[in-house]
Amino acid sequence: MLAIALDLPKMCYRLDLDRQQAGSYKIDLTLASRGFRKYLGPGTPSNAAPLNTICYPTAPSSRRTPMTLNADWMKRDLAVLWHPCTQMKDHERLPLIPIKRGEGVWLEDFEGKRYLDAVSSWWVNVFGHANAFINGRIRDQLDQLEHVMLAGFSHAPVVELSERLVALTPKGLDRVFYADNGSSGIEVALKMSHHYWINHGQPGKRRFITLTNSYHGETVAAMSVGDVSLFTETYRALLLDCIKVPTPDCYLRPEGETWEAHSRRMFEHMERALAEHAHETAAVIVEPLIQGAGGMRMYHPVYLTLLREACDRYGVHLIHDEIAVGFGRTGTMFACEQAGITPDFLILSKALTGGYLPMAAVLTTNDVYQAFYDEYETLRAFLHSHTYTGNPLACAAALATLDLFEQQNVIEANKGLAQRMGSATAHLADHPHVAEVRQTGMALAIEMVQDKSTRTPYAWQERRGLAVYGHALSRGALLRPLGNVVYFLPPYVITPEQIDFLAEVASEGIDIATRKGPSVQVSADFHPDHRDPG
Ligand SMILES: Cc1ncc(COP(=O)(O)O)c(C=O)c1O
Repeated sequence: MLAIALDLPKMCYRLDLDRQQAGSYKIDLTLASRGFRKYLGPGTPSNAAPLNTICYPTAPSSRRTPMTLNADWMKRDLAVLWHPCTQMKDHERLPLIPIKRGEGVWLEDFEGKRYLDAVSSWWVNVFGHANAFINGRIRDQLDQLEHVMLAGFSHAPVVELSERLVALTPKGLDRVFYADNGSSGIEVALKMSHHYWINHGQPGKRRFITLTNSYHGETVAAMSVGDVSLFTETYRALLLDCIKVPTPDCYLRPEGETWEAHSRRMFEHMERALAEHAHETAAVIVEPLIQGAGGMRMYHPVYLTLLREACDRYGVHLIHDEIAVGFGRTGTMFACEQAGITPDFLILSKALTGGYLPMAAVLTTNDVYQAFYDEYETLRAFLHSHTYTGNPLACAAALATLDLFEQQNVIEANKGLAQRMGSATAHLADHPHVAEVRQTGMALAIEMVQDKSTRTPYAWQERRGLAVYGHALSRGALLRPLGNVVYFLPPYVITPEQIDFLAEVASEGIDIATRKGPSVQVSADFHPDHRDPG
């Protein structure tokens, strides 16, 4: 085994060449001359990789011995695991990347190759992997109390966290209920809203209004209020009957219309839906400002201001799903701040624990709380329970995360990073196959299209996003597009130089992916989905 270690500024690569298969590796000299090496894994024929072609490490072959460390883990994994959001057959030819350790924005595999986590590991990580401060706080908590059930018992971290969340969120959100992941948090808010109306003698208010192109999670009720049809269609028979209102998504606005004008105009659909259905509607649920899994589609805060006012007028709850956008992602601590409003339910998760442990918090008003507060025999209580509700370790991670937000003036510091994300990618707006580069705070998306003038999208079967994903991996970046949308949603500890690196990788990837003809062979049984790079 011959190992070449490359220690480049900000990046560290190790390329292992097995003598028996030395010919199966190739270095992209174009990129190498700019200080980068292209990673081609075992199984890539030496003559099959012209410069700048996308190459993937392939799944391990039993013929090869000895296996690399990555391949060994990949083989063991594929023998027993079923991965989320994955057509497992894809891994016959696409890499599964076993990660050994993380540090800051970097993830490192078992052979020392590093990947810049441009998507914060599904949008959870804000202060970097293996953050020493958060690690320490979880360790301290571990020595005190790992878990206790929250019914009938309490503990210091959950009390402190609840006090801090109430203080941090917009005025009027005075109660915190916990769940153990985002989708469960959605279920809590939906049930609580309907139950509120039952307790107020209006059991007919049992439906929910939701926006098209929404995503709120994968449990059945959360899917019901979502609208990524290729993903939820299979389960249609199981879903609740929701009222869907056209999204204010500003990508769809006519040329020349501002985000604000478009968002205002699209609100007319919501006004009509509320007028017609308020009597049978418990709540409107939205992803404020950014429809994440629907392709990082964005809209103006005025929509939320109008929505708050209309919900009050029609007697309908407003649920803000800030699972993805809370904790600074949109440029303010919470997206609802930009609209100057307080929702009836605010659901937080993902970055709540800094990306460490699964937890969701559902904040609500005293009005909602009081509707449940009564003698036990009235059976008005909210008897919803998740086993790990308010887990002390997750609370400790969340408290440490909130401390970092306070100590480091993160929201202010992010302004410079957000600006850099915009300037580093601005040139892509002129790319012949990019319809739009859009940004809200620390989320930036680049929409690849087949035809720029008509905004005709690429057929999903072509999996152009997957080509970007593959190229980015070869360059040491985890950029996992949503279909044809390449996006950056990085941890806030990213540096301006690392943002430039991501922009360079994304530009190359988009060039490669949008070359003529499908970039990647697609197997017939592949189904696209919102979180898959295909
Ligand atoms: C806006 C939004 N809501 C809900 C969820 C579901 O959260 P979880 O995956 O923790 O169930 C997600 C996850 O991506 C999300 O982006």
